Amino acid sequence: MPEEKVIIFDTTLRDGEQSAGAGMTVEDKLQIASQLDRLGVDVIEAGFAAASPGDFEAVQRISKQVRRPIIASLSRANPADVDRAAEALKGAERPRIHVFLSSSDIHLLHQMRKNQEEVLIMAVENVARAKRYTADVEFSPMDASRTGEDFLCRVVEAVINAGATTVNIPDSVGYAIPEQFGALIKALLNRVPNIHKAVVSVHCHNDLGLAVANSLAAVRAGARQVEGCINGLGERAGNAALEEIIMALHTRKDLFSVTTNIDTAQIYPTSRLVSEIFGFPVQYNKAIVGLNAFRHASGIHQDAVLKERVTFEIMDPATVGWRGTSLVLGKLSGRAGLRARLEELGFHPATDELNQIFEAFKALADKKREVTDLDLELLMAEQRRVVDTRMYRLEHVQVRTGSAETPTATVRLACPDGATVTGTSTGNGPVDAVCKAIAKLVGVEPALDEYVVHSVTGGLDSVAQVTIRLNYQGRLYVGRGADTDVIVASGKGYLNALNRLLAAETIANRTAAAS
Ligand code: KIV
Ligand code: ZN
Repeated sequence: MPEEKVIIFDTTLRDGEQSAGAGMTVEDKLQIASQLDRLGVDVIEAGFAAASPGDFEAVQRISKQVRRPIIASLSRANPADVDRAAEALKGAERPRIHVFLSSSDIHLLHQMRKNQEEVLIMAVENVARAKRYTADVEFSPMDASRTGEDFLCRVVEAVINAGATTVNIPDSVGYAIPEQFGALIKALLNRVPNIHKAVVSVHCHNDLGLAVANSLAAVRAGARQVEGCINGLGERAGNAALEEIIMALHTRKDLFSVTTNIDTAQIYPTSRLVSEIFGFPVQYNKAIVGLNAFRHASGIHQDAVLKERVTFEIMDPATVGWRGTSLVLGKLSGRAGLRARLEELGFHPATDELNQIFEAFKALADKKREVTDLDLELLMAEQRRVVDTRMYRLEHVQVRTGSAETPTATVRLACPDGATVTGTSTGNGPVDAVCKAIAKLVGVEPALDEYVVHSVTGGLDSVAQVTIRLNYQGRLYVGRGADTDVIVASGKGYLNALNRLLAAETIANRTAAAS
């Protein structure tokens, strides 16, 4: 019998973006969507079109530019939301509207103040409305795992009759236990008379650390779509980590007997890109994509793996695109060597782009004896951050500091209109002085919410990676910067966050002016 396929639905750009402090630009989302396309996911939930002008623009642009996967927009079960989702998805090759509505008594009583019959009507009416725009409609009864089974069966049957082609069963608060969740999926498959007309999907949150286990139990019970986020991002404790689900299905094929469309070698590059853009580091011991996931510390293990890899490795690291942290290039390396290594790491720069990257690489190699893969990844990330000419660029930083003097910074910025501006500020430390000088020049001074410095490869000559979160009118904007000089890295990170803030403001102002 041919193996059945499990549809992989990625919601990194929607539920993942709900992670506190994510704050991405539309350009960031486009980059992630393109990488998800390379990874081979079947569905990309690009955003929640009615939630904000930025979300609308992201769904719209991803719909136009990413053509292979299905592009979905989330929508509450109301006509205005459904219409907005349809509008944003207009340019998509394969649009999906994903309607959701709470179904548990707890939500009905305390949040919605509606009874079951009212909810049933709203669900059916809005699925039918979405169906007028696209054949591909998904419905999610929110908090399904805390919904009474009888009512859940009624809702599922009714939305399928109204045209839903996927019914997604969310464990919205991460309350389920694998055995119980698998049994719920089995009950729906057995009890809902028209269930064969829809794909049964699951969407598990990780509040008890069981999101992946619950998703896998559901697949064993017959679910054929799994939703999740790269690196397990998402609301509160996050969603099921897609890379873990994919590799569990792949590694334990003997048990699951299902396939996916995923190119597993793209898992590691996708994880790195998402971590970089979200500004959330991946924990070292994280399954599949953590720095230690394929490192063996114990001498006994090392000895065994050298004799035969399968003794202590259930996956070949290369399968997930992991290449270790091997030393690669130095100051004598040439352009061709750099291009070859970048291509092995999944980057494909055009020739003029490569010229700029080569200059940056040479400058780095001058400061650092050994340039590792991790350094190259950072260099590429830094490159990506500065190419957008609609943004401010940090051209020069100079700092006077010492134990007995007030730190003073002078910075020069290249502006989006092509001009160059220079400014000076003092601060309670050199980083503070640099950030204040930049803020004065740009003309916005948000509060600093978080400042983290990470040494990427260890050693005193290591590249410093700085992550900064700025709070502006209650919204967080993340910025990152990398340099061998921690002060310069901080300035770059601060300006990166300001650029993201300004991009979000521009979209909001454009929308306000148009309406
Ligand atoms: O967790 C949840 O219930 C959701 C729905 C909107 C699918 O994210
Ligand atoms: Zn969710």
